[in-house]
Amino acid sequence: MGKFQLFPVQASTLAPEVDHLLYFLLAVSTFFTLLIFGAIFYFAIRYRRRSENELPHVAHTGYTLEIVWSVIPFGLTMVMFTWGASIFFNSRRPPNDAIQIYAVGKQWMWKLEHMEGQREINELHIPVGRPVRITMASEDVIHSFFVPAFRTKQDVVPGTYTTTWFTPTKTGKYHLFCAEYCGTRHSGMIGWIYVMEPADYETWLGGGAASGSLADNGKKLFEQLACNNCHREDNTGRCPNLVGVFGQPVKLSGGNTVKADEAYIRESILQPQAKIVAGYEPVMPTFQGLVTEDQILQLVEYVKSIGPKPAAGPVSSGTTPAAGALSTPAKR
Ligand code: CUA
Repeated sequence: MGKFQLFPVQASTLAPEVDHLLYFLLAVSTFFTLLIFGAIFYFAIRYRRRSENELPHVAHTGYTLEIVWSVIPFGLTMVMFTWGASIFFNSRRPPNDAIQIYAVGKQWMWKLEHMEGQREINELHIPVGRPVRITMASEDVIHSFFVPAFRTKQDVVPGTYTTTWFTPTKTGKYHLFCAEYCGTRHSGMIGWIYVMEPADYETWLGGGAASGSLADNGKKLFEQLACNNCHREDNTGRCPNLVGVFGQPVKLSGGNTVKADEAYIRESILQPQAKIVAGYEPVMPTFQGLVTEDQILQLVEYVKSIGPKPAAGPVSSGTTPAAGALSTPAKR
């Protein structure tokens, strides 16, 4: 670790933005702290009681002073609010061309998966200068994905997906922490993010012993679990055909419409009865306890891969899911 640092290094596009806002907040707070304490001491001495029978006299002033000390703080807090909100919204919206990574939090480790199938534990390799979007699930309790050098921290919540994104600006090795107390070995739930030159990253991606892309593995699982017996691609199955579904609106039996996103597919696997597609019977059994969060992510990727491709013709079948994975940004 070496020398003491007041701030972590700035290694993402978000880092300087967050720091500048923090400097502004610190400057405003310091200024007013000094002003108020200075005034307290000054008035305490200047207007101290000088004799036993001295009485205070009531001062009458106009509204000017009150207006000034209301309007200036109001203006300052509005600056803080809009500045903070704009950074917040920016940090919530991953760009469409972001590299997709999946993370699963588990007592007490981080499992990270690349679209190409590389899996890492407590390590993540990414290229410099490219936006990276991380979709996260938890296998057990709440964890929190915290990379101080990127100024990103996002809770990982059981039962749902959360996302975070960042664009690393410097190559190097950065701390990854779990920032939510999650049990005995919470403090050991740490790892490293390796930010690499794009060429090195390509080499790294090619070098790993990947066992097929996420979508490929999802396809295998889809067949292993016999999902394809009912979700048939020729529309003759007892369950909806999933080709072209991802990212599209789905009509439900109640008359409502939902968007087929990651969360919807996850729910349909674990709680098939929650939302029934219009025109189908609630015949699907739950897969709760039968598939891990990793496997659900693979299934989600498979469904995505047979989803519509932007500006391409209708998808014929799910035979080439791997290719679509990186080149097709997820529709949100
Ligand atoms: Cu996971 Cu703390």
